[in-house]
Amino acid sequence: MSLKKCQTYNLPRINDPRGNLTFVEANRHIPFDIRRVYYLYDVPGGAERGGHAHKALHQLIIAMSGSFDIHLDDGYAKKTIHLNRSYNGLYVCPMIWREIDNFSSGAVCMVLASDYYDENDYYRDYALFINDVKRVAE
Ligand code: TYD
Repeated sequence: MSLKKCQTYNLPRINDPRGNLTFVEANRHIPFDIRRVYYLYDVPGGAERGGHAHKALHQLIIAMSGSFDIHLDDGYAKKTIHLNRSYNGLYVCPMIWREIDNFSSGAVCMVLASDYYDENDYYRDYALFINDVKRVAE
């Protein structure tokens, strides 16, 4: 099941009294090349983001500031991850439905993505996503 591949990675940490430093290297700390970075910020209380799956995109989601919950669903199983450390990254492989909510005040959600933005890579309809998950499994 693809949900098992969706793990929280501990990224390298250089602790320093002047402030800590974390870095991410493509294909070393994460299993993909990085072609795009985007981030969610100024998220109002109670808002939900996500609500889609990707056909081929790999992503690493990092709580750069604050915290939020990520609900993952591969069509067979579900799990929820709470991210609240800027040295943790949640790897989300293709074909995972994700929803993000419970944003703390001032939360910043940064996403490293394996490809450029492409609307054709999205499932925005849960029923269509489930249909394709089951079709591939047959
Ligand atoms: P979307 O991925 O649906 O955001 P979320 O799932 O967090 O609610 O994207 C919201 C809008 O932003 C949508 O119109 C597509 C656009 N967008 C881009 O133009 N480029 C990007 O890299 C991303 C992630 C979104």
